[in-house]
Order: sequence, then structure tokens, then C-alpha cells
Amino acid sequence: MTIQQLINDRVAAALAAAGAPDAPAVVQPASKPEFGDYQANGVMGAAKALKTNPRALAEQVIAKLDLAGIADKVEIAGPGFINIHLDPAFLAGRVEAALADDALGITKAASKKVMVEYSSVNLAKEMHIGHLRGGIIGDALVRVNSFIGHDVIRQNHVGDWGTQFGMLVAHMVESRAAGEADFELKDLDVFYKHSKKRFDEDPAFADLARDYVVKLQSGDAEVLELWHQFVALSLAHCNAIYQKLGLLLNDGDVRGESFYNDDLPVLVNELREKGLLTEDQGAQVVFLDEFKNKEGEPAAFIVQKQGGGYLYATTDLGAIRFRVGTLGLDRALYVVDSRQSLHFQQLFTTARKAGWLPEGADFEHIGHGTIMGPDGKPLKTRSGENIKLVELLDEAISRAYQLVSSKNPDLAEAERRQIAEAVGIGALKYADLSKSRNTDYIFDWDSMLSFEGNTAPYLQYAYTRVQSVFRKADDFNPAARVLITEPAEKQLAVALAQFEDVVFAVADSSQPHHLCSYLYNVATLFSRFYEACPILKSEGDVRQSRLQLAAATAKTLQTGLGLLGIAVLETM
Ligand code: ARG
Repeated sequence: MTIQQLINDRVAAALAAAGAPDAPAVVQPASKPEFGDYQANGVMGAAKALKTNPRALAEQVIAKLDLAGIADKVEIAGPGFINIHLDPAFLAGRVEAALADDALGITKAASKKVMVEYSSVNLAKEMHIGHLRGGIIGDALVRVNSFIGHDVIRQNHVGDWGTQFGMLVAHMVESRAAGEADFELKDLDVFYKHSKKRFDEDPAFADLARDYVVKLQSGDAEVLELWHQFVALSLAHCNAIYQKLGLLLNDGDVRGESFYNDDLPVLVNELREKGLLTEDQGAQVVFLDEFKNKEGEPAAFIVQKQGGGYLYATTDLGAIRFRVGTLGLDRALYVVDSRQSLHFQQLFTTARKAGWLPEGADFEHIGHGTIMGPDGKPLKTRSGENIKLVELLDEAISRAYQLVSSKNPDLAEAERRQIAEAVGIGALKYADLSKSRNTDYIFDWDSMLSFEGNTAPYLQYAYTRVQSVFRKADDFNPAARVLITEPAEKQLAVALAQFEDVVFAVADSSQPHHLCSYLYNVATLFSRFYEACPILKSEGDVRQSRLQLAAATAKTLQTGLGLLGIAVLETM
């Protein structure tokens, strides 16, 4: 159990025993070291409800509070805060448990079926910088939720359907006949542009493209086969990126918009039967009173266009029906750009109204901000185009290679290449994950690749430094007891023992930056400990215990970075 939960339960019991059974204990990590390690802030609220003096109530609560074996000092501060100082022996036990277990001693959650939908690119175009954040954040959420014991299902809701695929397939057929398809498909964007040009300039081509759309939607085998080929080629581009970026996504996770095609007329009919549809200028619309504009008119969630075509929204309703009905999810995380937030609010509201999203199913849009250039506008190439992800990833690796080569010129070439990959990709991921996902941020190579501050290179380097201790300690006994006496030992041990608290908080909030701040704090506290408490110069039990603290630090950094999809290195 997390320490926070453990203490919370005890304080809640004490509050109940002191006559405030329903008062929330409000236990949090202490905001300052003077306030101990945890604070219980619920007494003031409880006293107010009971119309009693908060300090007097705090005294009663402390008298009933059983923290034996957990805390060695509990005191009242200010108007009725309770400050809790963890017992060094308790901390030592937590650190030992972490060392003895692959999952660092965490208590796994009662397993739920959790979906993380991420990446979800439109297959007509090449992956660009706009796809970076969702990929990185989604992947971290997959890893964290699996780590704490959930059954995690990845979904890649690719855009593989719609009118533009008629045009793309027509162009594929045409350029193949001219013997140039393979060359062209190397660059999807060029291919897309050429198709669009053909479509705009040649009416015969446009007719063919429209004919293909109709055939595609009516299930014509020949056109479907061509479409399959196009989708496969485009997915191969994506897979190459996923691999380079170290994402877990693979072909098995792809369930594109086309998958829901057969359900679309069915679900629109159901909406009609449920009385939720209104015809508006030939389109089928769900009006939502929940979302009114300034004029007080309800929002229109269009599910079928005039002429019968279906939309993005319709497919998303189909996906909900499948995710609830067939996948049987308890929780669904849609990792998608925040600019789509209104779409998801309306989507979930419509699905609830239709009865497709049961009370217990927790469907959330996990929005994220945009990557900005130095001018504060979305980052683009000089000529104003989207930056291709392949190029961005290559640049990250080559910049890291320069860096590693200048720091460590004696390393073998192959080793430098390997380090550069871990550092370059790690830096890119960490720069993103270390910021709150809700806000935009300015992209900056120098700060993300810096060896100082809250960066991946700093943490990767910190890890190698901890590991280097073990190369000089051949007497290390991995079964030794942990003994905590010095303040720097205690501070490090408190942080190490809080790993479980943090991982669960990240899973709850889908905010990976909490884990980044945590790991940065662990690395910083390790440096302080390393300076204040000599390891290799100490002897006997103290030396072994300090080596254990170092081992637990390394394990925490490695596991924590692993949950962010970032590799550690033995040397760099
Ligand atoms: N393909 C969409 C786009 O590129 C994103 C899909 C997000 N997921 C969803 N279930 N709507 O904008």
C-alpha cells in the first residue's frame, strides 16, 4: 500500500475514534522538511463541522492515532495540522522490500481493463511533430498502468477511411502503371500532394477517385485490396517511427476508423429510435443542451452528413460501442491533442445519453498541449511545413552523438552510437514528459540535451554514477540490512519509499510529469547523500547499508525511467 494511503487510513480511524467518523483525513507528503514527511490536514475541516476547537481535536486525534512502526514522531502545528515523521526502521524495511522485488515492493492494484488509445494518426500523411506528444505520453501511461497491475489494451485509432482514400488509391494505381509508385510512396506527403494535384486538375482522375470511394464503401473486393495495400505501406512508415522512438505500439494495436464501418448505419438508427436524432438541413444531428453557445443554442453533434456520409464523430461512437461492448473496458484513456477537447466532451455526452457508456465506465480524454517554436507558435520547418518525425528523431540522435563524442572521445564508435540513441531519444521523451501535459511548451534542443537540471541526460548520467560505485565495491552484500541514521540517509530513504505513492498518482491523474519530478528529486538526494555519507570509505554494516541505498537508488531510477520509456546505460 502507498505510504500516503497507509497513513490516511490510520488518521481516518483516529478521527473516527475522536468523534469525527466521516471527516476526510487529507494526508499529503509534507510541503517542507520542517513539517515532517507527511501532513494530515483534515482536522481543521472536521473541527469546523463539529464546531469545536481544532487544536483540541488534533490532540484527541493524536491520542487515538496508532502509527506504531510507521512514524516515530507526531506533532501538532499551527491551527491543527498534524506533522508526521516516518520511523527510520519503517523506511529501512520499505527500502529492503523494494530491493527484494522486481516491482520495487509495490502492492498491485486490483486489476482493471484499461485502454490507452494513442498515436491514432491519419494514414494519408506522414507522421510529423504533431504526433510526438501523444505517442510519448500514451506509451508512458501504458507502461505505468501495466506496472501497477492493470490489464492494459493499446489501441491505435488510425484514420484509414474517408473520401481522400479514393483519391490516394486512384493515384497509386496510376503511378504504378507508370512504374513510379515505389519511389513516390517513400515520401507519403509528396504522394499526397501529387494525388491532390491530380484530383484538382484532372476531372477524369477526380471521377475515378470518387468512383473508388463509392466502391470502397460498398465493399468492392478489388478496390478494397488496393486500399489494403496503401494502408499497409503507410502503417509500415508508422512502425518504423514507433520503433525508432521505442514505443510499444505494433500492428496488433491498430484498429482504424474503417473497422467500425458496418456499425455506423446501425448506430445512427439506434440514435433515431432513442429519439436523440434531429434532421437539420438534410444532416442527422444530436442536439446537446449541455453545450450551449452564447446565443443559447445547443451544440450540434453531426453523425450523418446530408447525402448519407458518416463522420469522425460517427466512427468514434462506433468505437465506444466496441470498447464497452466487446473489449469490456473499465477505463479508457484517449490520448489526443487538447484542441479536440470539445469533440470528446460531446462524444462522451452523446454516448451516455444513448446508453452506450455505462455509469461505471470511466472514459477520459487525456489532452495535451502543442510543441511550440521559439516564437511561441506551433513549431514548423523554415518553409512553414510540419516537421517530419523521422527527421526530428534522426536529429535528436545525431545531436546526442556529437555530445557523447565530445564528452567521451575514447569510447568505441559502436558504443557511442548506442549511447547516442538512448540519450537522444531519452532527451526528447523526457523533455515532453517532464512538463505538465496540459500546457504547450517551447522546443529547445540545448536544454533537453543538457547534463544539468531536470533532463534525461542528467538522470541517465546519475544512474551511471551510482552504478560506478559498485564497480569499486566487490564486497557488496545484496542481502545486507539497511540502517538509517544520518539525515541525508533518511531523506533519500523517504524519497525511495515514496516510489509507490508516485506511480499510483501518475496512473490516477495520467500526468507523467510527477514521475519525472520524483526521479529528479531522487537523483538530487542521492548526490547529497553521496557527499554527506561516504560509501566506499566507510566500513562494516554502515558500508553495506549505504551500498544498499545506492542499489535501491539505481533500481528506482532504472525502473522509473523505464516506465517513461527511457533506457539507462552502464557507462556514458
Ligand atoms: N486521427 C485523428 C487525428 O489525427 C485523431 C484520432 C483521435 N482518436 C479518436 N478516437 N478520435 O486528428
